[in-house]
Amino acid sequence: MLWATSPACTELETHVLDWLVEMLDLPSKFLSTSTGGGVIQDTASSSSLCALLAARERATNFASNQRGCDGKLVAYTSSQAHSSIEKAVQIAGLGRANLRLIDVDESFAMRPEALALQVETDRRAGLVPCFVCATVGTTSSNAIDPVGKIGRICREQKLWLHVDAAMSGTAALCPELRRIHRGLEWADSYCFNPHKWMFTNFDCDCFYVADRSALIQTLSVLPEYLRNQATASGAVIDYRDWQIPLGRRFRSLKLWFVIRHYGVEGLQYHIRRHVALAQQFAEWVGNDERFELAAPAPLNLICFRHKGGDDANQTLLERLNQSGDLYLTHTRLTDRLTLRFCVGQTNTEARHVERAWKRIQQEAEKLGPK
Ligand SMILES: Cc1ncc(COP(=O)(O)O)c(C=O)c1O
Repeated sequence: MLWATSPACTELETHVLDWLVEMLDLPSKFLSTSTGGGVIQDTASSSSLCALLAARERATNFASNQRGCDGKLVAYTSSQAHSSIEKAVQIAGLGRANLRLIDVDESFAMRPEALALQVETDRRAGLVPCFVCATVGTTSSNAIDPVGKIGRICREQKLWLHVDAAMSGTAALCPELRRIHRGLEWADSYCFNPHKWMFTNFDCDCFYVADRSALIQTLSVLPEYLRNQATASGAVIDYRDWQIPLGRRFRSLKLWFVIRHYGVEGLQYHIRRHVALAQQFAEWVGNDERFELAAPAPLNLICFRHKGGDDANQTLLERLNQSGDLYLTHTRLTDRLTLRFCVGQTNTEARHVERAWKRIQQEAEKLGPK
């Protein structure tokens, strides 16, 4: 719970999170040796909540911790953001009515000009905009919000920018895929989940802040029974002040093992392989006139649908998932049922993807002509 109760737990966590800044080429402000630093949370949901709490406090000069929220603080994210942002807004006491779901473009990425307009409208109405969450790799379609443009608006308007890269952040291990993080230098906080696509057992989310003092001041409560010399010296990290719970697991150990086991090149090899397999799948979909791609596919998630409409896609989904041969997830994009095929499991190989596509084609055959 404290540095003093297990120095190794804290020190290894700091060390591994600094490794990851370098491995993903994240902005150096996220290093522990800079103004910021990283901490391992259980999930991206917890990271977003912590980011929102720090944003809330920074915007109110730490008065809302004292007095509670006054109903005026406003948070922003896109209509495609994960539901954990809505949950965070509820828990943090902003109220769901004060979450703005900003419109997206045809690639399902947030429209920065719509964000700017909404912030202006809210300010004119006497409200207090405080937090924006951009997503790098939305859950539904893997859309990548224009973080740079959003970041400039946040800087101008003094809004906390959190970047949620829960699944897709891992792609930045590969230099040729780092475009997903363009603009990250504007972010106040960032998270990605090694438990999603970096071969790490659940749970493990890496959460970085640019200014650790804002987070610590937000979450720190120091009763007598937690006082100790190490904390008082100011020379150590007490991660209890970087998260909601007091006690914590030794999660950095498994991350250390993963990184040591694969090495950076090994991790890159698997990420590239997954992206290539997914892109191959997208090509097959695109070449089959019964199907269409439903969204751009920048990485390892392919959104597609049968051209026969929602009923046909529902039938395909149910039959395939009940077969036990493969498991597709679904979403709705532009209000049409959409099938989702994701390659991210450690041992997925070309033969699995080939077989999955053959099974999808077989089931499509049974549907008859579109
Ligand atoms: C973009 C994004 N953010 C957040 C989450 C929530 O992840 P967690 O279970 O780590 O809270 C997900 C999970 O699907 C996600 O895709």
